[in-house]
Formats: sequence, structure tokens, C-alpha cells
Amino acid sequence: MKKIAVLTSGGDAPGMNTAIRAVVRRVLFKGLDVYGVQNGMKGLIRGDFIPMDLGSVGDIIHRGGTMLQSTRCEEFKTVEGQQQALNQLKENDIDGLIIIGGDGSFKAAKILNDRGLPTIGIPGTIDNDIAGTEYSIGFDTAVNTAVEAIDKIRDTAVSHERTYVIEVMGRDAGDIALWAGMCTGAESIIIPEVGYDPTDVIDRVKQGAKRGKMHSIIVVAEGVGKGIEIGEMIKQETEYDTKVSILGHLQRGGAPSAFDRMISSQMGAKAVDLLVEGKKGLMVGFKNGKLIHTSFEEASEEKHNIDLSIYHLARSLSI
Ligand code: F6P
Repeated sequence: MKKIAVLTSGGDAPGMNTAIRAVVRRVLFKGLDVYGVQNGMKGLIRGDFIPMDLGSVGDIIHRGGTMLQSTRCEEFKTVEGQQQALNQLKENDIDGLIIIGGDGSFKAAKILNDRGLPTIGIPGTIDNDIAGTEYSIGFDTAVNTAVEAIDKIRDTAVSHERTYVIEVMGRDAGDIALWAGMCTGAESIIIPEVGYDPTDVIDRVKQGAKRGKMHSIIVVAEGVGKGIEIGEMIKQETEYDTKVSILGHLQRGGAPSAFDRMISSQMGAKAVDLLVEGKKGLMVGFKNGKLIHTSFEEASEEKHNIDLSIYHLARSLSI
């Protein structure tokens, strides 16, 4: 192994830069050469390789986004796109590739690995929805961002005695909603893993009003329904002053938290070590407080499990 390349793919996540820094510095520490691929899989197909040195990743450990840029790439789903990517890797003498991204990115990683290019994956998505790992880079920062925003919304909800429905990201997973809802004392947390009963949501708002609490926070994961529709339903059924806030892409930005920086640094270095040891076709993960690695196959067979005990605890505390 002489030359390793690194790229970020799919939706960006805070901590990706920290992981890129860790990969680049670890490769150089091992005395090997390292390249960055710009613009994710699209850049791989086009051959957007840039040589990286120690200075290329200076001053990025604390920055959100990804200095290598990222894309969602339809072209890689075609056989021609995949062949083109493999050709580019060969032409640039790349011996090993590290892909930082979500589950779509790992499908691509598996294809490249199966076709002869040793590849290691690092889970990076705010959704925390990747099978085979309890944690993916960016989740902690996104939850903190959502909590900060919801706390601010609560201030005005209290002043105006309003009910707020707050929609958070997560694609098909409810992890961000669950954590943000628990940490902000939401009256209801609506997640795809459980679904919801409109009567229950309304009853919980009314229960609060009965004891004189005229503001409520309802956190909805985007994967279960539209915040606007749920807000409309509450308005019609209760006539309470109800507003809807969609937090959207602000959850993907910002400086990575200390936890994200710690995990990203460790995962980045581990990915390099695995390649150098001659391992391939693996995703670095985090389980029971420790770094692990699992094959792309195993990771895709496992289901991503949300901790429903948190959901039930949150319901019992917001009464
Ligand atoms: O996967 C991360 C994520 O932010 C999801 O939570 C969200 O559904 C999606 O990406 C949004 O994607 P885009 O940035 O392409 O609109």
C-alpha cells in the first residue's frame, strides 16, 4: 500500500473535516502518500484527485461541512460510471480508498472493493441510521443544534402561550427527533419507528393545558410525516395557537462537537490502519463505547436499531 485516497459522499455532516484531517495525517505519519477526491463519487468518476500534505488539512478540525465537497451521484449507479471510477483510481495509482458517508456511499464502497480496489468506510451522516454501528459522525452536533434551536423556540412559545410543532431531519430514522425531543422536554416525540396516533398527540397537549401549561413542544421526525400537516391537525382539533418550524439544513452545518471530533479522529486513523494492515471491505463503527469494524455485508444485514427505551422514558417524563 503506497497511495491512499479519501472522499466524502452523500449529505455532509459536521465532523467530516475532522475525519479527513485524521485520514490525511495518519497516512502521512505512516510514510505513505495521500490524495483527496473532490466532489464525492462524481469527482471519482471525473478524476478530481488532489495531492494532500500536512498543511492541506490545517485549520479544518473545527469546521463544519467537508473541504472535499460532497455529492449524491446517480452516475455511479451505472456500470459505466463504476468502470470509469475504477479506471481513474488505477490511472492515479491509488492502492486503497476511504469513503466517509452514509449507507448509499457504502453500497458504492462495496462495489469498488468487490471489483478489486481495497476500500474502507467511515460512517458519516447526521441521521445516525447506519446499520452495524451505534454512531455515525455528525449526529451529536446535529442533535445539539436542534436542541439549541428548540430551546429558543420554547422561549417564545412560553411568552405567547403557543403550541409548536418542530420538524427535524433524519430521513427514515427518528434518532435526531428522539434525542432532541428528550433533551428539550417535548410533550410528544413523533418518530417513524413508532408512528403516532393523532388523538394521543392532541390529548397530551390538552393535558398540559388542563394544569395551566399553555405552551407545548412537539418534535416530529421528517420520516414520519409533515410538520405542517400535524400542526394543522392540532390547530383544528384544539383551536390552540399553533405554529410550525422546520429546522431543515441548519442541522447539517456548524462546528463539530467535541464528541464528533473525538470519534471522527479515531475513526479516520482506524480506517488508515486497517488498509495498511491489508484489510479491506470493512466499515469502521462504534459499539459499546469502543471502535469496531464490520464487513460491508454484515453491516448491511444488520438493522439500525433506535433505543425505544428513551422514547418511553421521554413519554413518562413529559406528562
Ligand atoms: O442524510 C442526511 C440528510 O440531511 C437527511 O436528514 C435528509 O433527509 C437529507 O439528507 C436531505 O438531503 P439533501 O441535502 O439532498 O436535501
